[in-house]
Amino acid sequence: MLRLANKSAIITGGASGIGRAIASLFVEEGADVTITDINAVAGRETARQIGAAFFEQDVTQEAGWKALIKAVSARSNGLHILVNNAGITGNRNETNPELTTLDGWNAVMAVNAGSVFLGCKYGVPQIAQSGGGSIINMSSIAALVATPFLSAYGASKAAVCQFSKSVAIHCAEQANGVRCNTIHPGQIVTPMLEGLFEDVGKLAGLSAETMRDEFLKKVPQGEFGLPKDIANMALFLASDESSHVTGQQLVVDGGMQYLS
Ligand SMILES: NC(=O)c1ccc[n+]([C@@H]2O[C@H](COP(=O)([O-])OP(=O)(O)OC[C@H]3O[C@@H](n4cnc5c(N)ncnc54)[C@H](O)[C@@H]3O)[C@@H](O)[C@H]2O)c1
Repeated sequence: MLRLANKSAIITGGASGIGRAIASLFVEEGADVTITDINAVAGRETARQIGAAFFEQDVTQEAGWKALIKAVSARSNGLHILVNNAGITGNRNETNPELTTLDGWNAVMAVNAGSVFLGCKYGVPQIAQSGGGSIINMSSIAALVATPFLSAYGASKAAVCQFSKSVAIHCAEQANGVRCNTIHPGQIVTPMLEGLFEDVGKLAGLSAETMRDEFLKKVPQGEFGLPKDIANMALFLASDESSHVTGQQLVVDGGMQYLS
């Protein structure tokens, strides 16, 4: 029996990296998957390659969320899984708390945290109406340790984590069958992480290769994670195997949390 048979899933930011890996695994496990992304060209191509549907979406836009949930629920006979995965690190020149501009702060908050609020706001009632299911919000190790080189990003991911606990307990109190958890990836090899080697290296006057080595020293297991490591955790949280798990923060970081 496939682990996500008869389930309908939405994964935001599914055109790249972690979102793509989650979507691909969910399709393999029998889910009817819709990926969304602001990058329509990459999103359509990814959807074609992995056997998912595509919906163009800027996750910061409330009207788009309403249209997405309505369209997917009508096409797939309901909605059971929502993975709020889309995220950005922010402007490479706006890093520490003094350099960050208010516009930069707001932009990161809107994409990383505002989108999770909107996804939950519109996703919870639809998933409840479909008989229950799972919301997985992509937080980060950055929610758990200080990130002076990515200050707005760390704050946005902490907001995701705290808000998710409120969603989980709200749903439990309503007994609506909706669970909500966060995943906290450490350092996972994706375009986002490669970009960070470049950006943080530039600010420190170091090459991307040197920065990569510095980042790797922070991982006790001695290797970066892969998108499939996060996809496997998402699969557990999406499936009925995790039916008694809600309001939790699942850290997938090779032990990094304890070194930072
Ligand atoms: N890679 C890591 O090491 C790492 C670590 C911790 C957390 N995360 C989180 O995991 C998630 C996925 O990251 P990734 O590494 O796969 O990044 P990525 O850059 O490879 O993919 C992010 C995707 O989100 C999309 N996106 C960006 N803004 C959007 C918007 N406004 N609306 C819709 N889509 C938008 C991008 O087009 C892209 O396809 C993010 O939330 C990120 O913060 C990643």
